Amino acid sequence: MQDNKVQIFDTTLRDGEQVPGCKLDTNQKLVIAERLDLLGVNVIEAGFPVSSPGDFNSVSEIAKMVKNATVCGLTRAVENDIKVAAEALKYAKLPRIHTGIGTSDSHIKFKFNSTREKVIERAIGAVSYAKSFVEDVEFYAEDAGRTDNEFLARICEEVIKAGATVLNIPDTTGYCLPEEYGEKMRYLREHVKGIENVILSCHCHNDLGMATANSIAGVMNGARQIECTINGIGERAGNTALEEVVMVLKQHPYLNLQTDINTRLLYDTSIMVRESMGMPVQPNKAIVGANAFAHSSGIHQDGVIKNRETYEIMDPEEVGVTESAIILTARSGRAALAYRAKKIGYELTKIQLDTAYTSFLECADKQKEVKDDDIHFIMKRIHKISKIAVA
Ligand code: KIV
Ligand code: ZN
Repeated sequence: MQDNKVQIFDTTLRDGEQVPGCKLDTNQKLVIAERLDLLGVNVIEAGFPVSSPGDFNSVSEIAKMVKNATVCGLTRAVENDIKVAAEALKYAKLPRIHTGIGTSDSHIKFKFNSTREKVIERAIGAVSYAKSFVEDVEFYAEDAGRTDNEFLARICEEVIKAGATVLNIPDTTGYCLPEEYGEKMRYLREHVKGIENVILSCHCHNDLGMATANSIAGVMNGARQIECTINGIGERAGNTALEEVVMVLKQHPYLNLQTDINTRLLYDTSIMVRESMGMPVQPNKAIVGANAFAHSSGIHQDGVIKNRETYEIMDPEEVGVTESAIILTARSGRAALAYRAKKIGYELTKIQLDTAYTSFLECADKQKEVKDDDIHFIMKRIHKISKIAVA
């Protein structure tokens, strides 16, 4: 498949939810699944049905409820997993079974004590069996990031023959460099017969902080699906963050790759996931962190007040953040103080600003951030010295 649409496969409720402390009950999962559908994700990986009765129930209820997206359930290359997933997905409008097996030499030797040939047989068997229940079968080659490309190409070709519609190439351990991961996708496109009839999918982990870069390298080299989670939650250092890849593609239109995501819902969705999982988002997290659109140094604040684009590459409203924030600290200049004072009702002359700024610095040196209440206090003090116009 070579059009310009990148499918967004959300695995917040599977790879994200399996993290300690992020466990959700069925009702919480339903609320998030409904929001993901509204956000415009193309696939919702709702869980791993065989793992527990609770997860089976969640996948089944999500399958009944979701209106637009494909609903997907994870399995190992094990017949019972696949049968149980098919049962959980039976009411989905668009069901997908996601089955697979480890393909790196390390997984083959240490996890399965097996051989490459036997792993190929299991992969073919799993895909064929899944195909007896649903049309849409995604195959994952776990640890593909560390799998030799020639062997990866062989197994991909075999599972395509068995009926796979999507090939997931996970960098399970977050080891690859972007160039290497992109090259892997290119290699598969050039060496696997039938690859033009399936979607290649990126599934990257963030152990070295490169999940987003790797996913983008993947789609620049022909992949057309990205597997990701809201806020980048997931095993260890997490998965590719949905909000990041979506905004990278949006902010770089020359790549000519689009998604169906309504980006204005990104921030609210991030809050919803953060709160229901109780998993905080670091303040400097790209796109959805508390500081993502906050400016605190005087030089930056002066620039942003004159023109937002001096220090912002995207409009906060595009991701659902109402406005950029000017944070007042001891590093702020007069421009920032005048700007904030005006926002809360004080129009200052140059002399008044000079006086206020001295009091402001005294206050800022004592505390991390100067809040609106502090400004009101400062204004009251200098009001005694000179009359301040309330805007
Ligand atoms: O990281 C991974 O390899 C996975 C697979 C199970 C798809 O999550
Ligand atoms: Zn994963």
